[in-house]
Amino acid sequence: MAERLIIGMSGASGAPLTVELLRQLRERHPEVESHLVVTRSAGATLEAECDITLEQMKALASVWHDNDAIGASIASGSFKTLGMIVVPCSMKTVAGIVSGYSDNLLLRAADVCLKERRKLVLVARETPLSTVHLRNLYEASRLGAVILPPVPAYYRRPLTLEECTAYTVRRVLGQFDLDDDGYEWQGMSTHEE
Ligand SMILES: Cc1cc2nc3c(=O)[nH]c(=O)nc-3n(C[C@H](O)[C@H](O)[C@H](O)COP(=O)(O)O)c2cc1C
Repeated sequence: MAERLIIGMSGASGAPLTVELLRQLRERHPEVESHLVVTRSAGATLEAECDITLEQMKALASVWHDNDAIGASIASGSFKTLGMIVVPCSMKTVAGIVSGYSDNLLLRAADVCLKERRKLVLVARETPLSTVHLRNLYEASRLGAVILPPVPAYYRRPLTLEECTAYTVRRVLGQFDLDDDGYEWQGMSTHEE
């Protein structure tokens, strides 16, 4: 059976992360079946932040689900998956996840991951973070989600935004042991000789 991974895209800034994640999955892990679900607001961020259309992005996924299709396969725990990545994850979607208010397919799929004890990674993005955001992120972490904000690793001296995006995506895929290209940090060089 194909390994399946759910990708939820919500309306926080960071649409290039979703595109890069889908591209990396396609190129490096064709064995993984990606199931994409996109919120309405994410359509707006995609338009603002990327040069590809929603139709082109959908084509990068193995399966695309309408966010209103609450009866889709990924809405059921009996549909086995490796888990879910919400990338980028808005503060509204975090609130929906921690409250169990699953009024769209993305939220329902995340709810299913929590109830089935499957991995749920939230690439949560907002700045600055309010007390409400921090409380909800803390609660999501307590519930078992991994909070993985898209923050650059300055120690790698990235020169472009694309490098920062690719780095975050590798870290996200690493949560599912899908970062198999020697991307590990080997430690700082020491000067002991
Ligand atoms: C260009 C743009 C950037 C946004 N950036 C963020 C963000 O970084 N974080 C966030 O929580 N919301 C952000 N928002 C607001 C969300 O899109 C809004 O709260 C929306 O209701 C989220 O809905 P969703 O979680 O169903 O996608 C942004 C909106 C736009 C139009």
